[in-house]
Amino acid sequence: MPESTSKPFLGFGLGLRAEHYQEIIELQPKQIDWFEIISENYMVEGGKPLYFLDKIRQDFPMVMHGVSMSIGSTDPLNFDYLKKLKILMKRVEPKWFSDHLCWTGVDHKNMHDLLPLPYTEEAVKHIANRISQVQDYLGRQMLIENLSSYITYTHDAMSEWEFLTAVCEKADCNILLDVNNIYVSSFNHHFDPMDYLRGVPAERVWQHHLAGHQNNGNLIIDTHDEPVIDPVWDLYAQTAELLGPVSTMIERDANIPPLAEVLAELDQARAIAAPFYERKQEAQA
Ligand SMILES: [Fe+2]
Repeated sequence: MPESTSKPFLGFGLGLRAEHYQEIIELQPKQIDWFEIISENYMVEGGKPLYFLDKIRQDFPMVMHGVSMSIGSTDPLNFDYLKKLKILMKRVEPKWFSDHLCWTGVDHKNMHDLLPLPYTEEAVKHIANRISQVQDYLGRQMLIENLSSYITYTHDAMSEWEFLTAVCEKADCNILLDVNNIYVSSFNHHFDPMDYLRGVPAERVWQHHLAGHQNNGNLIIDTHDEPVIDPVWDLYAQTAELLGPVSTMIERDANIPPLAEVLAELDQARAIAAPFYERKQEAQA
């Protein structure tokens, strides 16, 4: 089992997107402390993505974020995928890597969506066991991200945050807490997002995502194609106050705006969280 390490704080980062490669290389924006890459975009033999990855990696720390591990599936773990992930990890030397608390398919069929699991003890054991296998194979701890979800199961025996906590305690892994996803799921499933924040172990929360979404009136869809909305900024402030310093990034996956626009969102994240983070750090000194 890989050794647990204490939580690092990288500062404020961005999801690396091809649309911004050139500007990042030319401008080297000072307010970006680190980048998150989508692992699958770079699990290739060569070409432009790896060229830009290597070039930008020279100047910025990185973390890796995957979408295809399907850690909740009942299919066997895909060791071809994990092998490619391991090769990429050697190249990038990320501070950590993450994937989602979900399943994306079964019986070798890919649903092309991140689907939630029934929150049961049986599922906790199943997923924790698979995370342990992944961590053993890759030789380090991973982070698991909470989803935005649109359905629940009649079998649910606990809340999502109790489930996430139980999985992470059992597998000894850490948490990528997406603040927008908490907001979206709390709206769709009518729970208090503060219950979620109070219910997760702060020492295991290593990273935050902040993103936008589309509100269809009675259902919010997690589209990552809009700026972060005010209620999510408010929730992020409460997160920062409660959980203290956590590496935070803006996650935009579609409708990618000019770099300046996401940098403005990053500045806003820093302005909201920094006072809480400084207070927490002073209290701990
Ligand atoms: Fe996310």
